[in-house]
Formats: sequence, C-alpha cells, structure tokens
Amino acid sequence: EKEGYDYFMIKEINEQATAVRNTLTEKSTIQEIIDDLGDISRICFVACGTSFHASITGKYLLESIAGIPTDVILASEFKYSANTLNEDTLVIFISQSGETADSLKALDLANKTSKTLGIVNVAGSAITRRADYVIQTQAGPEIGVAATKTYVSQLTAIYLFAALIADDEKLLEDVYKVPDFIEELLKEVDSIKAMSKKYKFARDFFFIGRGYSYPIALEGALKLKEITYIHGEGYAAGELKHGPLALIDEGIPVVVILPPGENHRKTMSNLEEVKARGADILAVGSKEDERLKLKSDDLFAINDDVNEIIAPLVYIVPLQLLAYYVAVEKGLDPDKPKNLAKCVTVE
Ligand code: F6R
Repeated sequence: EKEGYDYFMIKEINEQATAVRNTLTEKSTIQEIIDDLGDISRICFVACGTSFHASITGKYLLESIAGIPTDVILASEFKYSANTLNEDTLVIFISQSGETADSLKALDLANKTSKTLGIVNVAGSAITRRADYVIQTQAGPEIGVAATKTYVSQLTAIYLFAALIADDEKLLEDVYKVPDFIEELLKEVDSIKAMSKKYKFARDFFFIGRGYSYPIALEGALKLKEITYIHGEGYAAGELKHGPLALIDEGIPVVVILPPGENHRKTMSNLEEVKARGADILAVGSKEDERLKLKSDDLFAINDDVNEIIAPLVYIVPLQLLAYYVAVEKGLDPDKPKNLAKCVTVE
C-alpha cells in the first residue's frame, strides 16, 4: 500500500495537494451549514495536538477576516472555560480521528449549551455522530502517526468556512491556488534532504513565526519532536526576547518562517537577533526575497504568490519534510514514533 514510497508519512506528504483539492469540494456543504447557523456572536475551537494548531490558524482567520471573536482551547483544558459558553457560541471540534477522548468529553459538555460543529476526517466516527454539524475533510485514510495531509485538509475546511462567512472572494481565490503551490514545492525536496544531513545531530531546534506563521512554527516543532525525538520549540517570534533568547547560542538551528506580508519586517529583525547570537538560520520564505537569501544559512524558497495569510497551508510542507528526512537520517521509523498512538482514546 505504500505505492513505492519508503514510508506512509512521505506518501501522505506527497498526497497533500490532492487532499486539499478534494476538501475544496466541501464548499457547498460548508455554505449550507453557514446559512443554517445564522448569526454567530462567538466561536470557540476545541482540539488536541496538530488539530489544535489548525485551530489557532482558525482563530486568526475568523477574527481578522470575519470579525468574529474566537477562542482556542485545548480539549483537555476545555472544562475550565465551559461555563462561559451560551447558545450564541459555536463550538468547533477539529479532529482527524473523530475519536479522541479529550475532544469527545468536551463535545458532550459543549452540546449542553451551544451549537457544535465537527471538522473530522474519519467518516462515521464518534464526533461526527455527536456534533450538530459536520464538515468531512477529504484527506482519505492517514496511516502515519504524524498528521500531515489531514492537517492541510483541516486548514482547507477552516479557510473555506472563514472565507464564506466573510464573503471574501479574494481569499477563496487564493485558497484554490494552494494545491498548485504545494505541487510546485514538492519538486524541490533536495535542499531539505541536505539540511537534514547537516542538522541531524542538533539537540535543540527553535521555530519562530509571527501572526499566521506562529501556528506554523508550533506545528513544525511538534512534527520534529514526535518523529525525530529532537527537542523542538515553536515560539511566536516576538516572544523570543521575553525568555528563550537566553537559550540561543552558537550553532543552534532556528527555523524562521517568513512569508511575504505585513509581518515580514518585524520577523526579519527577530531573525537578526538570533543570528547575532550565533544561531544557524534555516529560513522558509519567498523565492524573490533577496535579503533573506543573504541573511539565512539555509533557505527553502517558495513561490512569491504565497502570502502570509495562506502560508499555513503551504509553508508547513517543508517543515514536515525536514522532520521526515531527519528521522530517516537517524534510522528511525517515522510512521511509528515511540510512545505515541494514532488515536488517543484515554483522557
Ligand atoms: C500529531 C498528531 C496528534 C494529533 C492529536 C489529535 O502529528 O497526530 O497530535 O493531532 O492526537 O488527534 P485527532 O486530530 O485525531 O483528534
């Protein structure tokens, strides 16, 4: 079933353009849900792990594009804020498996007060049966323990939801271009393989990004931790000088996520702060960013039309590949990380 690939994870990384395309076909279902919901005064995302990172992107989108106040809560912490929900709140559960115990427990609680929506990959799973509304992501079965194609599919559903609520034609247009951008960058894996060889002995990695790039940093760090067992920390770029800068030293790899857009200038100065302390800069940025070429030690360059708003759907791919190739370099099985299960059915 690996169809010639060495592992499911790399097969699934390569299926991401298709996963996004297939999830885009859910547009009319999503429009129907929005019409049925009517006015929503507040949204609350609930999820774990990678699905939680997709939720953070959802918060940024819904607040900035649709102007709806949005919270993001880890499913395992949900009960501490359940008291503030009411019938005007929409609680959105994001889950690949649809069976995660923490999320299910939170769903039962949310169903008592609010409307609930599940964004779920596995058809017929418990969340799809218990939520008021369901958007099915169309990633197909995911075997690798590390979520990859289901993550970009969750994001696709969230972008469609936000763009349709806000009636944002430009955003919709941009999201429809995402599969082509992913296909384009997947042709350039050699530079990532070279980076993995260079950095496989690192003990710590930092990932930094600002705004929409912050959850990309969190997700890049999680992928690295789970399958390579290297300590990876994702930070909001602006938060570095509030503590973690003390850990930056000669030769520490710092992955900087720098798509073109409003936040570029400030993140660039954060890059300079870590560079001045001797960090090795692995940048992900635009092909046309000449300054970044000069400032970084290693650069993965992406089509300049990928702006910072749609970057979460595209810029995560080189970070998944980095984690994958580092794991392979270290002789680890990326499909079966130790201590982890594909579906977490205990609280
Ligand atoms: C990371 C990963 C986990 C899951 C988390 C939630 O690669 O797979 O962090 O994202 O356990 O699982 P679901 O989405 O099935 O609720």
